[in-house]
Amino acid sequence: MTGFDAVEVITTKRDRKALSDGQIDWVIAAYTRGEVADEQMSALAMAVLLNGMDRREISRWTDAMIASGVRMSFPAEALGGRPTTDKHSNGGVGDKITLPLAPLVAACGAAVPQLSARGLGHTGGTLDKLESIPGWRASVSREEMLAQLGSVGAVICAAGDDLAPADKKLYALRDVTGTVEAIPLIASSIMSKKIAEGTGALVLDVKVGSGAFMKDVSSARELAATMVALGTDHGVRTVALLTDMDTPLGLTAGNALEVRESVEVLAGGGPPDVVELTVTLAREMLAAAGLDGVDPADRLADGTAMDVWKRMVRAQGGDPDAPLPTARETQVVAAPADGVLVGLDAYAVGVAAWRLGAGRARKEDPVQAGAGVEMHAKPGAEVRGGEPLFTLHTDEPDRFARAEEVLAGAVIIAPHGSRPDLPALVLDRVG
Ligand code: URA
Repeated sequence: MTGFDAVEVITTKRDRKALSDGQIDWVIAAYTRGEVADEQMSALAMAVLLNGMDRREISRWTDAMIASGVRMSFPAEALGGRPTTDKHSNGGVGDKITLPLAPLVAACGAAVPQLSARGLGHTGGTLDKLESIPGWRASVSREEMLAQLGSVGAVICAAGDDLAPADKKLYALRDVTGTVEAIPLIASSIMSKKIAEGTGALVLDVKVGSGAFMKDVSSARELAATMVALGTDHGVRTVALLTDMDTPLGLTAGNALEVRESVEVLAGGGPPDVVELTVTLAREMLAAAGLDGVDPADRLADGTAMDVWKRMVRAQGGDPDAPLPTARETQVVAAPADGVLVGLDAYAVGVAAWRLGAGRARKEDPVQAGAGVEMHAKPGAEVRGGEPLFTLHTDEPDRFARAEEVLAGAVIIAPHGSRPDLPALVLDRVG
């Protein structure tokens, strides 16, 4: 493809004009090949952040990112007739939902090809969580993935380097140029990977609140609508739920701690918010895949989701019955006063788990499997001064002080009898 020039593409967007299809195809392909320099792509990303893109431009940008790599597909006959359906969450604190959700939806008759990532910053990554299971491996070949989808119904694994490579390069650049927040770029980044993955249906869990990328409902709604339109334009049945992320999900944040809680959910227990969101998202995924006849709540209760979980873990080399790693040291943080817990800030809990060693600052950093934060109360609960509010877990006790520091500002305790105004878990639905 010739006839374009990076400066002319940048100035088009700088001057608030729409990019042509040809300009978009060229700039993404040339950037992926290394012919458009990082500083030129940075300028273009900033122009997009400031001046936006229309629906046609976002759709074409997404197509160009998909075309930079392979596009997977799952022939129905190889899956024993199971329709494919997937979920994407844009990241939150204590968000372990993929772990119980994928086997649950598979137990209801769908195939779930879930390509996941490792965590960066204060939100955890699904692969880091699963890697705390002894023996479990994230890397699965295309053939293994197809075979496991047909036999077990669910795979959670790492995306190969050949899936939307343009996005990998552009995302790393956006991270260091203050351009992550551009809604057209977030939407095309997420959706290029999900469309290239080949799922037939997709449910987006768009997190809103202090612990999420999107801090307010109106920008989350705009992101959700943009992604639903992209999915629809590309033939993927897509719906989005906006869900609360001012408060962490469940009672744990940290890799092995979250696996333990997910297994509790699969065993029919677990924290009510994790169970509610898992079942709600499962119903949406099944409906989007055209499988309305089965109630996922029944599959949790009768143990079939747990059976699928064990088979899914074993198929990737893991031992679902082996003890999970635990941190070498723990420390209890007590409630500072008597009263009702009315606020528990998700961002602060995420940062505390990260400082304890559960997350990484750079993508090559290791994570501690046992590190994290256990919460003993959620908003709405009565607490007593001096009683445990958190238990901190880490292998390196010199990390406790910095975690405690951030948690000190995380809780709000109101006098006994106060009735906190708790947000609903599901704030809106788009699609
Ligand atoms: N997650 C992605 O994959 N891409 C973004 O741009 C933001 C979150």
